[in-house]
Amino acid sequence: MPRGLFITLEGLDGSGKTTQINRLAAWLKKHGQQPILTRQPGGTPTGDRIRALLLDSRSTALSPLAEMALMFADRAQAIAEVIQPALDAGKIVLCDRFTDSTEAYQGGGRQLGSAVVLELHRLLCSNLQPDLTLLLLPSLEVSLARARHRNQRENKKSGQDENRFELEEDAFYRRVWEKYKEIAAREPQRVVLVQGNLTIDEVHEQIVEAVSERLLASRAT
Ligand code: TYD
Repeated sequence: MPRGLFITLEGLDGSGKTTQINRLAAWLKKHGQQPILTRQPGGTPTGDRIRALLLDSRSTALSPLAEMALMFADRAQAIAEVIQPALDAGKIVLCDRFTDSTEAYQGGGRQLGSAVVLELHRLLCSNLQPDLTLLLLPSLEVSLARARHRNQRENKKSGQDENRFELEEDAFYRRVWEKYKEIAAREPQRVVLVQGNLTIDEVHEQIVEAVSERLLASRAT
């Protein structure tokens, strides 16, 4: 059986990834596919517990290296439990964030650098690479405003605290944003950059175009 298709969505908090991943899943279903949806951190029972640790703003003393190690622990579990079995079964996997997030947030934002992230990815994730990465990158200003608005809203609704990253200063997000741009420039074959302040429909169209191309290519091989 040929390997399935591994598609990841990336971008800053508030870039609209979640909306887009859901629309893409609906589009794939309409076209006869049964995609597996997952997210990082989280996506497995163990991963959900790691996620709570990572995103709770009471986790104040977490060191950047500990944070990176937890992201990889979550990912190694998700690969073993969800991603690799689905790919082996020939399925399409849609993953909300993957190792590019660690490179952007811990490598760039926390200034640990790319090399250590890529090395850990080789050691802990068998260097599993997405077939396609959709990187949503509206302007930094727009992304920040959306993330802050969304989090205030979610807090009021659920009372859940997932704000630790949203409390970071703008300089942190600027480094994340720049690292994402660097990754896109380094790997243009894998990473499709959806740039600019587009409408939800416009972003969806660009995503569908990129995914259709990969689907056709994977069937042809
Ligand atoms: P989440 O609520 O999933 O944010 P979003 O909806 O914007 O994706 O929270 C994930 C947070 O974790 C987000 O701020 C980015 C951060 N993160 C990292 O710092 N490193 C990582 O490797 C991953 C996967 C996420």
